[in-house]
Amino acid sequence: MFSEIMEDTTKDLLSQAQSVINLAASQEDLENIRIGFLGRNGKMNELMAGLLHVSPAQRGELGRVLNQAKREIELLLSKKEEDLLSASSNLYFDPTEPSIKPNLGHLHLITYAAREIMDIFERIGFVRVRHPEIDSDYYAFEALNMPAGHPARDEWETFYIADNLVITPHTSNGQVREMEKGYLPIKMINIARCGRRQSDVSHSQTFHQFEGLYIDKGVSIANLKGVLEYFARNFYGSGRQTRLRPYDFRFTEPSFEVDVTCGLCGGSGCSFCKGGWLELGGAGMVHPKVLRAGGIDPRKYSGFAFGWGVERTYMMKAELSIPDIRILYKNDLNFLEQF
Ligand code: DAH
Repeated sequence: MFSEIMEDTTKDLLSQAQSVINLAASQEDLENIRIGFLGRNGKMNELMAGLLHVSPAQRGELGRVLNQAKREIELLLSKKEEDLLSASSNLYFDPTEPSIKPNLGHLHLITYAAREIMDIFERIGFVRVRHPEIDSDYYAFEALNMPAGHPARDEWETFYIADNLVITPHTSNGQVREMEKGYLPIKMINIARCGRRQSDVSHSQTFHQFEGLYIDKGVSIANLKGVLEYFARNFYGSGRQTRLRPYDFRFTEPSFEVDVTCGLCGGSGCSFCKGGWLELGGAGMVHPKVLRAGGIDPRKYSGFAFGWGVERTYMMKAELSIPDIRILYKNDLNFLEQF
């Protein structure tokens, strides 16, 4: 009789456990249920204690029933635990939830500048070419009318990395290399990294230049002036003007420095420009000796060339007065993220 009551109680307990486990909404609920039913002072142990009052003949059978119930409750608990876990991890697959923003970088501002410069020259038929950034001093100097030992070479503060090999101090090494390809007319822009043994607030050992070269029959200074004017208007804005100042380069004759009117004061003079003009860089009509070095007959062909610093040209556009130009290459995110 007593053992029958115990069996019924066990069944009741099992179905009680079933319904509360079903209702559990968290791991914490499950833990409380576990303690309530299977813990040391839990309901199952209370029942087990009743076994002492059962006749030894029935004890074995009743014990099995109780143990079976215990196992079933354990099983129900662990199944429910899995259900709760997978339900909570499903939450992370909610496609409508706003995602974490990835950290996006952007190109370096000098890359942007080079692309913008190229876009402008491409519109009037110039083609981007590439020439070595480490080259023999023949292309960097000799072919440009600066033979070995010529004092003009000193102005370029060149890094020699072997007897005849330099980190190109300018992009002009591309001139004769381009002529040697043997195609005429030439309308090229060579944008490349250059190096000079200089480092101060306005010079970085690594910098970039873009070199333009136009060779055809009948090319004149008027064409040079027209192209530079076109570039200045497109790059800096329609109101800007250029001027050519006589200068001296060994590889051009005549040679010029090119200036553009200051964007801040419009040419009247301010602290950014000092005198209304900003200096862009060198230009000139290609020297006959350079044409000859490239296998071109100077009596039939003429051309102009120009070579400017990308950094300088860009900073003038942005009216950026950077206190130390070397910051461009320091990977300083606070600086770079502004562009
Ligand atoms: N290569 C010169 C320099 O780095 C700049 C230059 C001057 C380039 C005159 C030219 C040019 O193409 O015609 O200072």
